[in-house]
This record gives sequence, structure tokens and C-alpha cells, in this order.
Amino acid sequence: MKYVMIPQTDLSVSRLAYGCMRLCGSWNREPITDAERSTAERAIEAALEAGINFFDHADIYCLGKSEIAFSSIWREHPSLRSKIVLQSKCGIRFADDPAPGDPKRYDFSYKHLVGSVEGILQRLGTDYLDILMLHRPDPLMESEEVARAFDELHRSGKVRWFGVSNFSAMQIQLLSHWVDQPIVISQNELSLGHAHLIHEGVLVNQIEGDGARASGLLDYCRLRGIFLQAWSPLGGGRFFQASRTERDARIIDAVELIARNRSVSPEAIMLAWIMRHPAGIQPVIGTGHPDRIRACAQADELELSREEWYELFTVARGDRMP
Ligand SMILES: NC(=O)c1ccc[n+]([C@@H]2O[C@H](COP(=O)([O-])OP(=O)(O)OC[C@H]3O[C@@H](n4cnc5c(N)ncnc54)[C@H](OP(=O)(O)O)[C@@H]3O)[C@@H](O)[C@H]2O)c1
Repeated sequence: MKYVMIPQTDLSVSRLAYGCMRLCGSWNREPITDAERSTAERAIEAALEAGINFFDHADIYCLGKSEIAFSSIWREHPSLRSKIVLQSKCGIRFADDPAPGDPKRYDFSYKHLVGSVEGILQRLGTDYLDILMLHRPDPLMESEEVARAFDELHRSGKVRWFGVSNFSAMQIQLLSHWVDQPIVISQNELSLGHAHLIHEGVLVNQIEGDGARASGLLDYCRLRGIFLQAWSPLGGGRFFQASRTERDARIIDAVELIARNRSVSPEAIMLAWIMRHPAGIQPVIGTGHPDRIRACAQADELELSREEWYELFTVARGDRMP
């Protein structure tokens, strides 16, 4: 596995990250079962064996159980903490939290951000996060609240660096204007099935581009040295399901053809398509199967040719290049 530095930080990270959204399987308040715990442990071990040193969490994943299940790692690897990069996210609150009838909402208040990090650290069994990410933009985010929370979390040593997820370029600029800490990562959905970030770059000044707006986010992040991560890089599994759309079926057919020619897994080809982009995007993979984690890791050994990349882009666009 190759490693790269996250600009503006001292963090050296694997080209693939492991996402823990599905780590515990179930999103309920039931205690973690032995089966869930051992499935999670096998997945984490497989990721570590593949050379992955970056683990992505959120306080909401499996309603906190993913972070709890992850904390078993310290039992097997007591000296691992300083060798891996731990990222978690907060800011999303589900319905009925804390009172029955409360709506699903986003909350970037000082109280919620600082309180969420306390919970994250406790569940993960660590005293600091390498990166805290704001999960989804809160229309009610207030400059003073977020700045005070970032200052407090950074000053106390509980959070080393900060990032955002699902933010526009303008929202990142606005946040950066308020807070003293740099925004070092931007995590967004990107796969062959959801490639607006890249599509819009070839649709400048075209009517067709109306539905593909990402407002220059990719270029903005490159310009500012903000590290890019791709969530659901395999489309969340949609290409592999019997219920896949015709378009997804065409994409997976094209992927499988190149995979056969290259003697690698289809997963590796889909990830290599993201990694071939010169922005150095880090896919955050989410399979819980050790053999599929190994299949994903083959992407690190692979560089798609320009022709292969465009072949897949054309199928994903559903149209030839303009
Ligand atoms: N910031 C955000 O808003 C946001 C949103 C979503 C996700 N994320 C992050 O991104 C990470 C990855 O997301 P993701 O899990 O959707 O990523 P993904 O890697 O695109 O999809 C993983 C899913 O695809 C399935 N899959 C993969 N290969 C398969 C195959 N060959 N056959 C059948 N199924 C296959 C997996 O099932 P198996 O487990 O059975 O292999 C799993 O359900 C998350 O863990 C989280 O960290 C962030």
C-alpha cells in the first residue's frame, strides 16, 4: 500500500481509507452481539493487513455502535493508536434526539459539537481524534459557535485537525473565514455511479451541465490544498445488486471487461478510476468482507490508462464526450 501526506498536516495516510459506517451491521439501540463484534474485528484486521491506516467514523454510524466495536482494536494492538489515523464526524441529529418528536436536523452549536466529541472519544476508547469532520452543512451554523467549539477542541488536544463532508466550495470558504484552524479534508460522494464532481468539469457552458453542479468543489479543494475523500466509492454496493438499474449494469459490464483484461477485481477497477484523477482522491471503502477488502486493495497496484479511464467515464456519463 502506498502512503501520501495530507497537505497542511503531519499525517501520512494509505491511498485507501476504511469506512466504518456498516461496521456493526445494525442501526438500533440493542447491545452489540458477539457475531457483530467478531465480524467487525475481522474487517478491521483485514484492513490493517492490507496496509490501510486511515479509519473513518461518525457518531451516528450504527447509532454509536461502530465506534464501540472499533475500540476492541486496542486489546489486540495496544500500541496501534499513534500508527493509525482516526477520523470521526458529528453534527447530524436523528429524530427523537433527545425528546420524542424532535425532528431530524443538523446541529453545529458549541454545546452539541463539544458534547459529541466527548461521546466519540469515550466510544472509541481514545483521548484524541486526528480529524473531526462536520458531517453535513447546517443552514443554522453560526460563526461564533463553530469557532468557539473548534478552539476548545483543538486547545484541549481532543482534536488535531478539522474537515468537512458534503460542503460546497463556498461553504468551506465561509467556514474557513470564521475559524482559526485550517480545513484539511473534504469528503464527498464519488463513484462511477455518482460522479458530479468530475462531470461538471466537462460540462462548462452547456445546458446538459444543469443537473451536474458541484460548483467547482474539486478544483477549489485542489487549489487550497484540501485533501479529497470519496465516500461510497463502489456506489454503496448498488452495482452488485440484482435490482441495479440498466445504467449501473452497463457500468459494471464495462468495469468487468477491464478487470478481466487486467486480471484484477472489479472493485479495484472502480477504485482505480477514482484514484487515477490527479487530485489524489482517497476512496473510503465500506465492505465488511475481508476478501473484498483485499480485492479493493489491488487498486493501489494499478494505474488505468487514459483510454481506460475515458472508456469508463463515457459509460458512466451515458453519452460520448462533448
Ligand atoms: N460523509 C458522508 O456523508 C458519508 C456517507 C456515506 C458513507 N460515508 C463513508 O464512506 C464509507 C464507505 O461507504 P459505503 O459502505 O457506502 O462504500 P462502498 O465501498 O461504496 O460500498 C460498500 C457496500 O458495497 C457492498 N459491496 C462491495 N463490493 C461488493 C461485491 N463485490 N458484491 C456485493 N456487494 C458488494 C458492501 O457489502 P459487503 O459488506 O457485504 O461486502 C457494502 O454494503 C462509509 O463507511 C463511511 O465511512 C460517508
